[in-house]
Amino acid sequence: MLVFERKNQLSDWARQEKSTGRTIGFVPTMGALHRGHLSLVSRAGMDNDLVICSIFVNPIQFNNPQDLKKYPRTPERDLRLLREAGCTAVFCPSGTEMYPGPVTTTYDFGQLDKVMEGRFREGHFNGVAIVVNELLDVVGPDRAYFGQKDFQQLQIVKALARKEHPGTEIIGCPTVSEDDGLALSSRNARLSEQARREAPCIYRALQMARDSYPHTPIGEIKKQLARYIETSPQLKLEYFDIVWADSLMPVERPDPSRQVVGCIAAYAGKVRLIDNLAFNS
Ligand code: PAF
Repeated sequence: MLVFERKNQLSDWARQEKSTGRTIGFVPTMGALHRGHLSLVSRAGMDNDLVICSIFVNPIQFNNPQDLKKYPRTPERDLRLLREAGCTAVFCPSGTEMYPGPVTTTYDFGQLDKVMEGRFREGHFNGVAIVVNELLDVVGPDRAYFGQKDFQQLQIVKALARKEHPGTEIIGCPTVSEDDGLALSSRNARLSEQARREAPCIYRALQMARDSYPHTPIGEIKKQLARYIETSPQLKLEYFDIVWADSLMPVERPDPSRQVVGCIAAYAGKVRLIDNLAFNS
């Protein structure tokens, strides 16, 4: 497995590979890899000749400096897992390699980045868009893979790619969960024992909400979910929204012809977790 630290070296190599007709699948990550990331690498390997992965904890997408500081970092283990997963090349840039100068780009995603995560994590999606745009520029992949756990991020990256990288197909891959329903996240490593025990309630709450839709009024479903989350002392609900999958706007009246997703963010102890569930398929 090749390891690149410099943008221009990776770009030159990727361009050379593409000129021989090979296709490239790209999996951007912030490291602290788990089975969810590895499922993206595996899917990228099935669809493409080469797989490139990036590991970069992107400081400009953290609205909370403590969250950035505490973000788990396991570089040696990550490289070993990627090698075992058959990844062709890894990009591990430093902060100054990624951002040699001040970062000033501002994206406009309309309402997509204003709701849900956007309301609670100011600047987060602009930071994600900047790094993803830069990475897609450097790698120039045929396809890039993102987990559906970050459902809002996936919609925003699709909007970004439609505009800036029409040659790259953005592929959303299913969330990978523990047996008890807790969605895999690098942040799970920071859960206390009790918070870890209670965290699967988040997924159960989503399932209950899905089962109540569409015969129970949306307002009532939201109240029931909040009450259910409150029964776990370690959990604190930040938001729960039932939205149209394409626009991320709140569903006011059910429409069976449109895809609906329930999206949740909650603290389990000190750790902020998100998850979502399709309400109709
Ligand atoms: O989903 C993530 O891990 C990050 O937001 C991403 C897409 C790698 C950008 O830093």
